[in-house]
Amino acid sequence: MARYAHIIGWGMAVPERVLTNQELEGMVDTSDEWITTRTGIRTRHIAGERESTASLATEAARRALRMTALSAIELDLIIVATASPEHLFPATACLVQDAIGAARAGAFDLSAACTGFIYALNMAAQAIRSGSIQHALVIGAETLSRLVDWKDRNTCVLFGDGAGAVVLSASDVPGGVLSCVMRSDGSGANLLYVAAGGSRYPASPETVEKGMHTIRMNGREVFRFATRVMASSTREAVSLAGLQLEDIEVIIPHQANRRIIESAARGLKLPLDRFLINIDRYGNTSSASIPIALCEGLADGRINPGDHVVMVAFGGGLTWGALTMEWVGVEMPVTPRARWRRRFLRRLARLRSFLVRILRKLEGLLWGARSHPRSSAKDRRRRHE
Ligand code: COA
Repeated sequence: MARYAHIIGWGMAVPERVLTNQELEGMVDTSDEWITTRTGIRTRHIAGERESTASLATEAARRALRMTALSAIELDLIIVATASPEHLFPATACLVQDAIGAARAGAFDLSAACTGFIYALNMAAQAIRSGSIQHALVIGAETLSRLVDWKDRNTCVLFGDGAGAVVLSASDVPGGVLSCVMRSDGSGANLLYVAAGGSRYPASPETVEKGMHTIRMNGREVFRFATRVMASSTREAVSLAGLQLEDIEVIIPHQANRRIIESAARGLKLPLDRFLINIDRYGNTSSASIPIALCEGLADGRINPGDHVVMVAFGGGLTWGALTMEWVGVEMPVTPRARWRRRFLRRLARLRSFLVRILRKLEGLLWGARSHPRSSAKDRRRRHE
């Protein structure tokens, strides 16, 4: 029997703190008028001291799971698409895995900048459709505010923090993820990047002094690239799904610049009201922008069962891609028993994680000194001589 991959749960999380254009006027040489007319952004959310990519991702994941009858233990795979991971390693996905108690899931991060969520959703959908897994959690999460140079007006007005998550499940109901195109062009790697902190330029006083740990961008070039690929990849994904552009009810574009979205609409000869746009309130949240817009579109009733939906994005790498879905509205009714079971298993997973940490510490104390082969009496004598 054919298997399909459907989104059965979704959730988002943004920090409480909202940074307005007016506040930015006091930080760099800019104006509300410039930011609004050139980008469409009015406010963005900025992570507080106690928030991070993993904490936002975990909150979004919990909300997405709560919409389903699933417990975290039933997840087979967690992918976190992010350009601002919690650490270089371990993967942010592993931290989410532990926090939600997904004790049987594989977990990894996916780095494709703002296109990350589309890549991740496609990877998870392919794993489901091939029959190798049943349930996956796909998250786009960012705290780009931690990578922004707050003195650079070219970039600091653009980005925001947040996370969006979906639970993707196998079903024999036709629909769900229908097609995807994923593209890249590393010759444009120097158009949008964070230079240091990796193996090429490890952190040093010099890299800090030169500001090499913050986002650098050639805005004009990225703009030109974006307007080119948004329309072309949408056309390609729609055609791969065996559909026509007229069949598409909703387009969820990456929210980087309102003018880029308007240009894509013109290029596709589609009315702008077919595009979900929330950039005014969130700015560019990179890999989180599409799942956040998806959550809002579903909450507002903009996406309904039977709709054909295209997600389309571009970003650093350069990367770009588009994914077509048929929104069937596959539901997994949440019974009180399922809710109780999920709560119970979550507590159990938390206890398990705590006990495993204690056990690891105890093992370290008991056996740590013997982690190297014992030296022989002969070796010890030789050392004393
Ligand atoms: N406030 C006021 N002026 C600003 C400014 C700001 N925040 N940022 C840049 N400017 C200035 C520039 O310095 C430039 O001044 P100059 O002409 O004296 O050099 C002027 O505005 C125009 O710059 P330009 O680059 O032509 O503006 P633009 O219309 O292309 O808009 C971006 C700039 C960054 C908004 C736009 O290029 C863009 O959105 N690019 C894509 C970025 C993107 O999507 N990145 C993420 C990819 S996922």
